[in-house]
Amino acid sequence: MSERQYKTVHFTLNGKPVEKNVDVRASLTDMLRNDYRMTSVKKGCEVGECGACTVIIDGEAFDSCIYLAVWAEGKSITTLEGLLGPNGELSDIQQAFIDETAIQCGFCSPGFILSAWEILNTGKEYTDDELRKLLSGHLCRCTGYENIFRAVKKTMLRRLGKEEEAEKVGEQGIVDTDERRIFASLDPTVQA
Ligand code: FES
Ligand code: FES
Repeated sequence: MSERQYKTVHFTLNGKPVEKNVDVRASLTDMLRNDYRMTSVKKGCEVGECGACTVIIDGEAFDSCIYLAVWAEGKSITTLEGLLGPNGELSDIQQAFIDETAIQCGFCSPGFILSAWEILNTGKEYTDDELRKLLSGHLCRCTGYENIFRAVKKTMLRRLGKEEEAEKVGEQGIVDTDERRIFASLDPTVQA
């Protein structure tokens, strides 16, 4: 394709109907960042490996770097900005990431939080192994994962009305070697 071709896409972004004329080769990441200033959508590997660019499309978490902008036609897309309440209040999972110090540089955080949002919205209680596997599509270079895992697990338990159990998560303060092993299989910088 030597000449640029454009197409108009109509979709819902964080609850608001929008339309945009986009280059048919543009990724959803680029459209969201460049045209809508949704800078929570991070550009990491850009090949679907790290999860930094995750957004929610019709209720499911996707890597937006490997999703063409034109495929957004008719879809409902949510970015991290869309999780805020009407007056800018943080959602429970965002607050949990802060409370558990699950954020350091923050580059991976929007993607992790959106995948967690999808997981939590199922309303199910997952085992530790299931939770780790569900989150394993994301790479973090800073936190070592334990804090992220704790934030998601605590929020899951709280939503299920298990406040007491939630408070006990991570009480032992010990690094879970199985957890590190699962993430290490995806991230060579993590020592199992
Ligand atoms: S930037 Fe999309 S998966 Fe890494
Ligand atoms: S907090 Fe830095 S990459 Fe995860």
